[in-house]
Amino acid sequence: MAGSGSSRAVDASSVAKAFDAHARSYDKLVGANPGYHEHLRLSAKRMGLKGSGLRLLDLGCGTGASTAALLDAYPGSQVTAVDASAEMLGQARRKNWPPGVRFVHSRMEDLDRAGVQGPFDGILAAYLVRNLKDRDAGLARMLELLAPGAPVAVHEYSVRDSARSRLKWNLVCAMVIIPMGTLRTGSGDIYRYLRRSVVEFDGVTTFSERLSRAGFEDIRVQTMDGWQTHVVHTFLGRRPGLAADDPLLDPEVAEVETPPDGVPVV
Ligand SMILES: C[S@@+](CC[C@H](N)C(=O)[O-])C[C@H]1O[C@@H](n2cnc3c(N)ncnc32)[C@H](O)[C@@H]1O
Repeated sequence: MAGSGSSRAVDASSVAKAFDAHARSYDKLVGANPGYHEHLRLSAKRMGLKGSGLRLLDLGCGTGASTAALLDAYPGSQVTAVDASAEMLGQARRKNWPPGVRFVHSRMEDLDRAGVQGPFDGILAAYLVRNLKDRDAGLARMLELLAPGAPVAVHEYSVRDSARSRLKWNLVCAMVIIPMGTLRTGSGDIYRYLRRSVVEFDGVTTFSERLSRAGFEDIRVQTMDGWQTHVVHTFLGRRPGLAADDPLLDPEVAEVETPPDGVPVV
């Protein structure tokens, strides 16, 4: 994996171990990425929840950047934050969190065994789904964990539908992410995996269809600003069964149409 001197390529079966080796430098690296935290907050807000005491699930929480984004959007929530990497979780646990936050060391595929049970009022999966071996099974599990009508926000890179997005992504990787990551950590394996996994990941259309096949409804896709425009997206969907007067859903946020620039330029 990604330990110094290792030449074995990272893949979906070794990605959590790869994150173990990079956990200590993770916050510094993402902190140098303009918009990283703001975009996570945006994806959390785009779920459009309202109300207090929400039960939220952060899948693939890493060092807690997405957990913090959920709390920023929905203060006072009960957040269960799950990650397969013990070292990434260790970094997360060191931070100050309000009482409603609990961290669970588990693969998302093993949540039952880890005692994580729904229903949740919302799920955020930031930069996780691309790393799953079986994405359809992962999405099906998310659907089961949600309360009827509750939203999922999959925050993810997706460049396949757009030549311009692919070019931008490959340039950012070649000129910034891979050299900077390698310099900071002594190993480039995980950054090369990042580049490759994003290039190979579903396009916006394919992933939206995948969400729909998994049983989600009201699927919407919105992109970010900055260099991440048409590169990073919030894919939103809801478990069917929303009552018309559901108090959890903020109609003002939920009814915002995907802007024209949320559709990739092919
Ligand atoms: C790129 S990090 C994202 C962390 C955080 N969500 C953020 O936005 O900064 C991806 C995380 O997903 C975790 N991960 C990968 N595969 C996983 C799986 N099958 N189950 C749970 N966590 C997984 C990794 O350990 C890693 O911490």
